[in-house]
Amino acid sequence: MRKTTIVEMLRNAGENFISGESIAGELGISRTAVWKHIQALRDSGYEILSRERRGYKLKDAPDLLLPSEIQIGLDTEIVGKEMNYYPSVDSTNRVAKKLAYHGAADGAIVVAEEQTGGKGRLDRNFFSPRGKGIWFSVILRPNFLPKDAPKCTLMAAVAVAEAMTRFKFKPEIKWPNDIMHDGRKLVGILTEMTGEIAKISYMVIGIGINVNISRDEFPEDLRGIATSLCEMNGGEELSRVYLLRAVLEEFDKFYREVTASGFDKVLARWKKYNFTLGKNVRVISASDGSFFTGKAIDLNHDGALVVETANGLQTVYAGDVSIRQT
Ligand code: BTN
Repeated sequence: MRKTTIVEMLRNAGENFISGESIAGELGISRTAVWKHIQALRDSGYEILSRERRGYKLKDAPDLLLPSEIQIGLDTEIVGKEMNYYPSVDSTNRVAKKLAYHGAADGAIVVAEEQTGGKGRLDRNFFSPRGKGIWFSVILRPNFLPKDAPKCTLMAAVAVAEAMTRFKFKPEIKWPNDIMHDGRKLVGILTEMTGEIAKISYMVIGIGINVNISRDEFPEDLRGIATSLCEMNGGEELSRVYLLRAVLEEFDKFYREVTASGFDKVLARWKKYNFTLGKNVRVISASDGSFFTGKAIDLNHDGALVVETANGLQTVYAGDVSIRQT
């Protein structure tokens, strides 16, 4: 069973003080250890009052994606059991790959308040300002073959979409994994994999969710192509902590499903959120800019896009292409 945390106990106590002794008793640690934890929480931005003979009371919590917040009531079995939090990193994917190389567990995550060199697909940059979004990466060590890895990207998109619907949003997924609203991007996903032909050593799935970025906070060149949940919500900000918790729970659920029974359910859910099938598309090669057009008619069992063109059916695999709706 998951252990209660000090933050959780302080929250449960509400307006009351809770004694160092009862915290120590509940957690099975010394009162000095409690005091040290309280100091560490204060250092990370919690405002905690202390009174002699009465104990501690939580006055204010920082609006940060701290493990101590995310883990409260988090209902997962694999994803987010190990959390690595950073106020600032260049890219959570880069940090996650390093941790994975050094043995980080299946489901471990790396979360940052800001990325100074956020990476997008096709070597693009990903705008990741401090405290305004959810920038994180999940390390996976799945038991399936490398050829199935691209479907994990679709799985991640479905997990984020399902989490958003918990908050009454109606997300749409543009193949393979961009989550969009009104033709502008809300969420980007970058999957990287290390392994051999027959075995995945580890995958890193990086997810960037634009949560509380207002229109004028986006750089000008992104204003026409990117949006945020707060923009969709009439300017009202959302709790990043609640949303990240929901995403981790959905991710965990789908990850366990695909490792036990394959990707059928994920692909079916993807179709529910699909924004590409049935539309005319232009498929552009990122390496040489060549393109063809046609109608996206299906997602095959590999998660590839089937496009009907004047010259017959073409199967498009994610990676080196970008898709424009025409
Ligand atoms: C894309 O749409 O091009 C993919 C964007 C992926 C962005 C996320 S943010 C967290 C993780 N760390 C990165 O450097 N990139 C991914």
